[in-house]
Amino acid sequence: MGKNVLVLGSGGREHAICQAIAKSPLLGKLYIAPGNPGTASLGENIDVSPEDFPKVIELIDKREIQILICGPEAPLALGLMDNVEDFFSSKENKPVLIGPKQFAAQLESSKQFAKEFLFRHHIPTAAYKSFDQTQLQEAIEFIEQMTPPIVLKADGLAAGKGVLICHDHLEACEELSQMLNGKFGAASEKVVIEEFLSGIEFSIFALTNGKDYILLPEAKDYKRIGEGDTGLNTGGMGAVSPVPFVSPELKQKVIQNIIEPTINGLQKDNIEYCGFIFFGLILVGNEPFVIEYNCRLGDPETEAILPRIETDLLALCNEIHTDTFGRQNLNISDQHSAVIVLASGGYPEFFQKGISIQLPEQTEGTVFHSGTKLKERGLITSGGRVFAVNALGNHPQVALQKANSMAEQIHFEGKYFRKDIGLDLQHLWNSK
Ligand code: AMP
Ligand code: GLY
Repeated sequence: MGKNVLVLGSGGREHAICQAIAKSPLLGKLYIAPGNPGTASLGENIDVSPEDFPKVIELIDKREIQILICGPEAPLALGLMDNVEDFFSSKENKPVLIGPKQFAAQLESSKQFAKEFLFRHHIPTAAYKSFDQTQLQEAIEFIEQMTPPIVLKADGLAAGKGVLICHDHLEACEELSQMLNGKFGAASEKVVIEEFLSGIEFSIFALTNGKDYILLPEAKDYKRIGEGDTGLNTGGMGAVSPVPFVSPELKQKVIQNIIEPTINGLQKDNIEYCGFIFFGLILVGNEPFVIEYNCRLGDPETEAILPRIETDLLALCNEIHTDTFGRQNLNISDQHSAVIVLASGGYPEFFQKGISIQLPEQTEGTVFHSGTKLKERGLITSGGRVFAVNALGNHPQVALQKANSMAEQIHFEGKYFRKDIGLDLQHLWNSK
């Protein structure tokens, strides 16, 4: 009998997770809550919000779910896994939970928690101090002795908007006071002020049971809305994997200085962790530093990395609590992967929803749905990021050209995508 799986979420990341596990011979039935029109072609979408814990638990129970994979961070930060675990604690049919419980999810949901963890375990990261509303004066004094740019971070989850890079002391002090006064609601009741690190960013991912881990491929994402990395921050406008400057030596350094100390740190601190960890890194000179942890996979990085993984992802999840977990060899295709995000006009600020979409009949890669809905009149837009198109190729240029041509062939009014994804890395590819 195959394993029944429930994937929580509704974006391109969850579509890519479903595509990966739909290939698995281990799969019984695949459910997605709430899913999107893309995931509907791979399993059964169920209209339940991942944050509605009683309904999620009922779904797991009724549909005899054996593996639960949570895509986004918000349900994890709210304690989804604690609730599921409590419900099944005295039952025999407890599902495998891929996603950490609330305490461990603080690695993403509290910047202060993450920074304290990083410092406690001597993992390279920017110097910082954190302050609350009662410490405005001290915080200003701290800012005044820093050399700009100065990085201000809301402690809590702020939908990717809670980080400000200030170019002088005055701007930093003004922003700080607004943050402590509720600019990001409860998320900025505490603010982490940190040193600016100058370098190139990349991310690497691991699947872990808190003791052993499997390293997944790295990716580079493109966070800004505008070409040449300009304009406002977004959830991510594209991604490539592999990343040409991530040499085997650098990867080894990341493992030694960051990944292993993180996993060992979880153990030393007795922090139970089961799920994906996203290491947001920056390369300063030749040294990798941690910018952030996320307790989930990235979007659109997932749409770039999972199509390269040949090993059965569902089998890895299924075996996560066995003694052999972490010893499996991950087979990664040497194909290059490129993802381009198609966004609604106006995103990340105001944008319209409900716009009709025309998809080509055939494409050279995968069209992952991010913000779409199916109505009587056909497919319509329902979010800022509408699709993430993925293409593979023997050379990054080939993957990018295919992804670009897919992006051109999808039509909806106001469609916007960056045409420069990966171009900053071109000189590195050409020199290989
Ligand atoms: P975070 O939410 O912590 O990932 O921050 C969002 C973005 O802000 C990162 O992807 C970086 O581009 C930038 N950032 C965060 N912290 C720093 C830092 N200490 N130095 C330079 N840039 C940073
Ligand atoms: N693309 C960045 C993230 O998923 O957080």
